[in-house]
Formats: sequence, structure tokens, C-alpha cells
Amino acid sequence: MNARRVIIDTDPGLDDAIAILFALASPALSVAAITTVAGNIGLTRTTANAGRLLAATGHEAIPVAAGADRPLDGQGITEEAIHGEDGLGGVFLPEPVRAPAELPAHHLMAQLLDDHPGDCLDILALGPLTNVALLLAEFPAAARRLGRIIAMGGAVEVRGNVGPRSEFNIACDPEAAARVFASGLDVTLIPLDVTRKVRADAVYLERLRASGTTSGILAADLIAAYFAGEADRTSRPLHDPCVMLQAVRQDLFSIRRLRLDVDCSRNEDRGTLLSSASAAEIGVAMDVDASGALELLATTLAGTAET
Ligand code: RIB
Ligand code: CA
Repeated sequence: MNARRVIIDTDPGLDDAIAILFALASPALSVAAITTVAGNIGLTRTTANAGRLLAATGHEAIPVAAGADRPLDGQGITEEAIHGEDGLGGVFLPEPVRAPAELPAHHLMAQLLDDHPGDCLDILALGPLTNVALLLAEFPAAARRLGRIIAMGGAVEVRGNVGPRSEFNIACDPEAAARVFASGLDVTLIPLDVTRKVRADAVYLERLRASGTTSGILAADLIAAYFAGEADRTSRPLHDPCVMLQAVRQDLFSIRRLRLDVDCSRNEDRGTLLSSASAAEIGVAMDVDASGALELLATTLAGTAET
């Protein structure tokens, strides 16, 4: 199988880190670059964490480019309470081997798209969509060469995790999300409706650790830190890994075509998804084979997956 070339746009972040480890280990994906955005924590940390993950797994040749340190409009929000001051729950990772690229994230995205015409490059978006919105605005011709944009975000029929109906990535930069949804590109949204169903518990954590691979052990450490962030829980949702899992095995997710806009008001509804007949249609994952997804994640991190 030809590996699919992807750019990972991310705010690592514990669940981002597990998603990145999966992508680096998957024979179905070829990571062309990691671009970072402020989200769970500030941009300096998210950028350093991307470099640390690459160093820890021997992928230091993959370029990292820092992107937006704030949303298009207004102030960002952070999640240190879940992800810790360092964004990785204190899990030890080596320092980055390479400095980030000089280019801002959306410039590197455009350069890679220009170097690879045709829809052979996807963006896997794990944080606020600010960098992708900047790519659309400043490099529209390059953006049109994109294959897919698969983004974790939103809450359709379930409660939010920031406001009553708003989810963190969308609420951080609703203006950016609205622009990406309206882009006319092949956008697939992976909302809390499915990511909350893909959960790691203590048994799963030990399965990853028992694999003995660097990625499996690191993922176990990251999940253990994820538990520490909310100690009263017996399992933790693997939000961002669902983006990679859908990229590799679309059959594991049920997609509904929805016309969605985003509430950009300045109140507790900011970031809420709005159904709108005039909005562009995007794909939204509304159900998932959770056991199949967890199996693919574990076997890929263990180095035993076929896809
Ligand atoms: O709501 C979950 C999302 O917000 C995940 O991407 C998590 O990493 C945080 O960024
Ligand atoms: Ca994230």
C-alpha cells in the first residue's frame, strides 16, 4: 500500500502526542511535516513537544514549523489542567534534535503543497484551525491542491467540553473553523460524539506498555499522565488519535454529510456548531467502531498492524 503523505497540525498535548506516535508508526501514513499551533498550551511548548516526540522516535528529519500563537480573533484558551505545564503531563522526552523551520507553519504547508501538485497531501488537524485558515487566506491556490482536511473538533449531539455545546478546538478559534468549513475543500470533522467513545483504560494502557516498542511504552506513559490529569476517571477519551485512525481506516467511522457553520459570538456559546442550510456540506463522523479503532491503535504502536 502507498503511504498517504500528511501534514500534522497540532497543539501537543497528551492526546495529540499519542496521535503523532500512531502516525509515525503507521505504514499507511508518511508524515511530511508537523506544524504547531497554540491550544492546549502556548506555542513555544507545543512546538518543543513536537520536536521532542520526533527526537524520541528517531524521526528528527521530519520538519517542524511553528504557527499561530493566538486565534484569528480574540484570546485563546488553554488546558494546562489536563495536559500539565509542559503539555505532556511531565512525561520525559528528549530535547528536540532540530530547531523549528524558519518558515511559519502555513508557509511550510503551502511550500509542501506546491512541491507535490495533485491531491496527494492531507492535513490532519488536532488543535485550533488557525494555521489552516491562514493557509486558505494567504495561499488559496496551494490550498486547492490539498487532498483531505481531517480535523478533531466540535460537538454535534453531545455536550461540549468548554461551553454547554462547544468543544475546545473549535471554541479556541471559531472564526478559523468557520473558514475551513466554508472552504469547499474535502473536510471531515471528528467531533466529541465519536471521540468520547474511543477510550483508554488501565488494561489498555498495560497492553500498550507490554508491546515493548518505544512508541507503545511512550503512549502508555502519556495515557498514565492523562489519567493523572483527571484522577477520578477509569478511562480517558482518545480525541486526537481518532483523526489518524479515520485517515487510515475510514471504514471504522460512520460519516454524515452536514451543513455546519460556527457560532462566533462572544458568550458561552462561542464555538458551538450551527446547522445552516446555506453552509457548505462537510463530512462529520457520527459513529465509530471503538473496539476496532483501539485495536488498530494498539497494533500500530506495537508494530504489528497490517495497515
Ligand atoms: O476537545 C479535545 C481537543 O482539545 C483535543 O484536540 C485536545 O488535544 C484539545 O486540543
Ligand atoms: Ca489537540
